[in-house]
Amino acid sequence: MTGRQQIANRSIFTGDNVEIMRGINSASVDLIYADPPFNKNKNFSAPIGSKAAGAHFKDRWTWDEVKDEWLGEISEQHPKLGTLIHAYGEIRGKDGKAYLLYMAVRIIQMRRILKPEGSLCLHCDPTMGCEIKGLLDAVFGAGRLINQFIWHYKNASRGKKQFAKSHDTIYWYGKGEEWTFNRENVLAPFESGMTEWRYTRGGQKGRAIPKGKTPDDVFALPSLNAMAKERTGYPTQKPLKLLQYLVRAASNAGDVVLDPFCGCATTLIAAEIEGRRWIGIDISPKAMELVMQRMKKEVMVGDRRSLEKLQIHHMQTFPIRTDGAQKRSKDIRHILYGRQEGFCRGCDGHFQIRRMHLDHRTPKSKGGADVDANLQLMCSHCNLLKGAGTMAELKAKLRAGKYI
Ligand SMILES: C[S@@+](CC[C@H](N)C(=O)[O-])C[C@H]1O[C@@H](n2cnc3c(N)ncnc32)[C@H](O)[C@@H]1O
Ligand SMILES: [Zn+2]
Repeated sequence: MTGRQQIANRSIFTGDNVEIMRGINSASVDLIYADPPFNKNKNFSAPIGSKAAGAHFKDRWTWDEVKDEWLGEISEQHPKLGTLIHAYGEIRGKDGKAYLLYMAVRIIQMRRILKPEGSLCLHCDPTMGCEIKGLLDAVFGAGRLINQFIWHYKNASRGKKQFAKSHDTIYWYGKGEEWTFNRENVLAPFESGMTEWRYTRGGQKGRAIPKGKTPDDVFALPSLNAMAKERTGYPTQKPLKLLQYLVRAASNAGDVVLDPFCGCATTLIAAEIEGRRWIGIDISPKAMELVMQRMKKEVMVGDRRSLEKLQIHHMQTFPIRTDGAQKRSKDIRHILYGRQEGFCRGCDGHFQIRRMHLDHRTPKSKGGADVDANLQLMCSHCNLLKGAGTMAELKAKLRAGKYI
């Protein structure tokens, strides 16, 4: 079953992608390309004077950023994933575990919003790539890996003590058993002469010469150099050619392509050029500015369409699901009371069921859905105290000790 696409084509959202994805209908996206922070333990910013000046994003993770709702969602709905992250935490420490939890809740949403034949390209480097692959196996299923695609960027810096680090890995996972692969859009040339010889003089005389062969899962393309025309200065900007290649291979014309970490909009530009519909999300408002600038410069050039006609939607509110997500069990209060064994999710006090209130773990005002998975029981005191805030805010208030 394919869900209804409720987001307008060419929408760019400014905000946290987990909250925005929670508002996107299930089974409504064909292809997701995601290039998240890699846990490099540093902060990135664009150079002053570049088009992207002012853009910055952090890539350091600490345990205090972990939200209770992530823990709750994972332990209740994906216990195996929880066990895996816990085990990784033993090796990568608490901060590494915080990063993996951050990624896990987002991977869960990505899978949910993909169509049954949709797929996800998740861009990683060696920092946490193997752990991320573990998360993908846990959420998508180990058999759903289509390719471990290598982007060989060639122009790596070369030290003297090891091989030059010159590739990133893109894990390509399908949601189901079928996926889109347009081999003919990305054919690789044959080695010189051989094929023509086979088809003209060899045993296959008279048959049309194939235009090329299935390409390798290694794609060689230099990373952007300082002089590249498309360079915006946005840290970690990926080459447009890489994205065009992936979009052409893994989606069809008119398909919906989503980039939940869109940065300076490389995927969105690629999707526009290739005739796909697109949705972008980034927490930095700079992404919105850059998508406009780049559309003008890289898409509109020589094109009679004006930017106004392109109608790009800048969204600053959370989308609301229209696919019947508003389902909650009739007996949800009793189910939750049993699951929580009568304890309040806020103060951990024990209460009678009639003293417990239904609470949206992620508030509705922040994109939280009115579904079982987002509900919990709390005592009236905690419920009031939390208001439209998050669990982390409630816990902070409780810890501050002012209220208990
Ligand atoms: C590695 S960069 C992406 C670069 C992009 N592929 C490009 O070519 O420009 C990661 C991006 O994720 C964004 N980001 C980090 N956490 C986010 C979140 N929770 N929600 C949305 N965007 C986020 C950052 O602002 C940054 O732009
Ligand atoms: Zn309480």
